[in-house]
Amino acid sequence: QKPKVIFSGIQPTGVPHLGNYLGALLQWRTLQDSFSSSFSSASSPSNRLLFSIVDLHAITIPRPAHQLSADKKQMLASLLSIGLDPSLCTIFYQSMVPAHSELQWILSCTASTGYLSRMTQWNYPILQAADILVHKATHVPVGEDQRQHLEFARECVTNFNAAYGCQVLVPPETMVTERAKRIMSLSDPAKKMSKSDPSVKSRVLITDSPEAIKTKIMGAVTDSLAEGKVTGYEPETRPGVANLLEILAAFGGQQGKKTVEELGEEMRGTGLKELKTKTAEAVTEGLREVREKYEGYMNSEKQGKMMEEIIQTGAKRARESAEETMREVRGVVGL
Ligand code: ADP
Ligand code: NA
Repeated sequence: QKPKVIFSGIQPTGVPHLGNYLGALLQWRTLQDSFSSSFSSASSPSNRLLFSIVDLHAITIPRPAHQLSADKKQMLASLLSIGLDPSLCTIFYQSMVPAHSELQWILSCTASTGYLSRMTQWNYPILQAADILVHKATHVPVGEDQRQHLEFARECVTNFNAAYGCQVLVPPETMVTERAKRIMSLSDPAKKMSKSDPSVKSRVLITDSPEAIKTKIMGAVTDSLAEGKVTGYEPETRPGVANLLEILAAFGGQQGKKTVEELGEEMRGTGLKELKTKTAEAVTEGLREVREKYEGYMNSEKQGKMMEEIIQTGAKRARESAEETMREVRGVVGL
């Protein structure tokens, strides 16, 4: 079996919200856990997982320097707190691996302009392609909204390999994980939960206190249908209720793991206040360990030093991984 190389990136947006956590980061954790058993097996000696905090992408919208540093550190502490283990995966800041930008320039010289001309800006998709290709990633877990970026990365491979008559770059595959969850805003279930929503009550952060979680979830906007009772999982007609069920199911439902549809059936007839109470309790309990670890990373000097070491080690490993590719790329280009 050919070794897998998996790459995924996330912007340094500070502490992730429930949407980021359930929609993306938990998949990273699951990947790591499913991979860890294969790490020790001789049949797949070099499966690799690379997770990047993509700070170069973040500067397309400039923010004060101290803010970006703080956002990076908070994202790193969050990734470690949700259980990403630096002995099983490589976690790094994109800007510490200059080969990402070097390959971006090289790819931009052969990239076809069809797709790019439809984009609002050019650099972002090419850098995103470089992020993947510089590590010869074979698999990329992406959300539905990212599919066309991956298609573009494959196009970059075709264009580059054709221009230099080589097979140096490897086309990545989309990785189909479980049904991607889409978590909606607690203030307006017609919109997705997002950090850019001006209302802080619209989202639960993964480090929120039990009090904050309770306030936000008890205040979640639902509807006044069916005398305030659950009538099953109906995202089209009752998006606010469906969203709470989605969150509750993700955190283990009432007893044990259930699909959101099963949970909706089981809770038919339950009052919305009780649904909210249960959801708040499950989220509080489910995030307890994350919150405690996060406090440790952010407040203890020793753990702060540990984070610094983790990011240096991650960057070193990522530079080695990227350099292998870049030697071949420079070779075929003649640089
Ligand atoms: P935001 O929308 O808050 O700006 P990002 O665009 O930085 O979040 O997304 C980071 C990751 O989290 C992406 O993989 C994205 O698909 C996922 N994500 C963001 N918001 C949600 C959501 N509400 N539900 C599910 N996944 C989400
Ligand atoms: Na976004």
